[in-house]
Amino acid sequence: MHHFDRIDGALHAEGVPLEALAGAVGTPAYVYSTATLTRHYSLLRAAADAHRGALGDALIAFAVKANSNLSVLATLARLGCGADTVSEGEIRRALKAGIPGERIIFSGVGKTDAELAFAIEVGVRQINVESGAELERLIAIAAAKGSAPAIAIRVNPKIGAGGHAKITTGGATDKFGVPVEEAIDLYARASASPHLTPVGLACHIGSQIMSLAPMEAAFHTLREMVLTLRANGHSVTRLDLGGGLGVPYHGQTDTPSIADYAAMCARVLEGLGVEAAFEPGRLLAANAGLLLSRVIQVNQRTGSPEEGGGRRFLVLDAGMNDLMRPALYDAFHDLVPVRPREGELRAYDLVGPICESTDIFARDRMLPPLEAGDLVAFMGAGAYGAVLASEYNSRPLVPEVLVDGDRWAMVRSRPSYEDMWAREPRADWL
Ligand code: LLP
Repeated sequence: MHHFDRIDGALHAEGVPLEALAGAVGTPAYVYSTATLTRHYSLLRAAADAHRGALGDALIAFAVKANSNLSVLATLARLGCGADTVSEGEIRRALKAGIPGERIIFSGVGKTDAELAFAIEVGVRQINVESGAELERLIAIAAAKGSAPAIAIRVNPKIGAGGHAKITTGGATDKFGVPVEEAIDLYARASASPHLTPVGLACHIGSQIMSLAPMEAAFHTLREMVLTLRANGHSVTRLDLGGGLGVPYHGQTDTPSIADYAAMCARVLEGLGVEAAFEPGRLLAANAGLLLSRVIQVNQRTGSPEEGGGRRFLVLDAGMNDLMRPALYDAFHDLVPVRPREGELRAYDLVGPICESTDIFARDRMLPPLEAGDLVAFMGAGAYGAVLASEYNSRPLVPEVLVDGDRWAMVRSRPSYEDMWAREPRADWL
């Protein structure tokens, strides 16, 4: 559920009319709802707390990659949320937003020496190690610093899942994590080093996962591994269960519920006495944001249907540079008119202004009549939306707005053309 509703026929973000917002900040623009972020976090918090016996004092570490806006992170920080990060930049963002180091997990398949050193310096909660090569580098870096950071080994359970082949991470040929046997060996290697403190295992098998079954299977693998490691004399106190839970993009009701998800995790971890960590990105942020856009014009194609005649292209001022997900993953985002006109539904192809055929959001969407100047919103755009945006075609980076009740703030501004040129100093010989 989200807090984007109609009041007197016009779509609002909480108490703020999107028409007024578009007038004030222009389009395209991302708009986020504080109430929705809060609701999603609170639902997961309550679900985890309901299983304290099995999950311990579980950490919810928001996957910063999904939405790294400082105000979004600060909103979550105030609720007690932690951060799952994959770069020095993300760690810095989390810290700047007020998330303490002890609630920051550092994941990622390719952390540089400098990033590992930085993570140790700021005292992150745990570093999730993804390979033997990384483990050896980390030992050397920690030794040089005279420290012993907490680490988890990221396991590749050979179970991939997710809404698209390109967002599956747990499969045998995916680049992430280490196979079970190797993970057991790496844990022993870490335990033997005075410069590491192995605390547990981590696993993340994919994103937009619509069934709990593959996650449950992967978590069972972790459970077995905990028993093996303990039998080998090692201490294991934490399990990082990753993110990945699917969210409704179509208004569908078949997504796994947060309560069922937490109950499943508790079932698998029951009796282990470990502390769980969750790394949700999409779950917290996707339906907490929309991309507001204006119709530039409607291009009606003439000619025979076989030759594309009759097609109606809704040309928007948002392009794939602003919202990459449809071009990258054939992702579905609902498009809704901010103030729908009366009239019969008709089929539109939703396209942006970018000079590429991939700049198409959807084909044959049935929508009420739309005209140049009308406002529309892509729903479910709060995760992996603004973070993936670029200035392709020299379009200024899309801004972000955060709404809280009746108030709103521009939380990432749209650069001016001068701002853009200032980042590109001319070579001194030109
Ligand atoms: N933890 C790790 C280690 C991850 O790699 C990810 C996402 C998450 C947590 C959060 O997953 P979530 O709860 O959001 O599913 N850009 C793609 C999604 C890429 C996900 C990458 N990893 C998209 O727009 O669908």
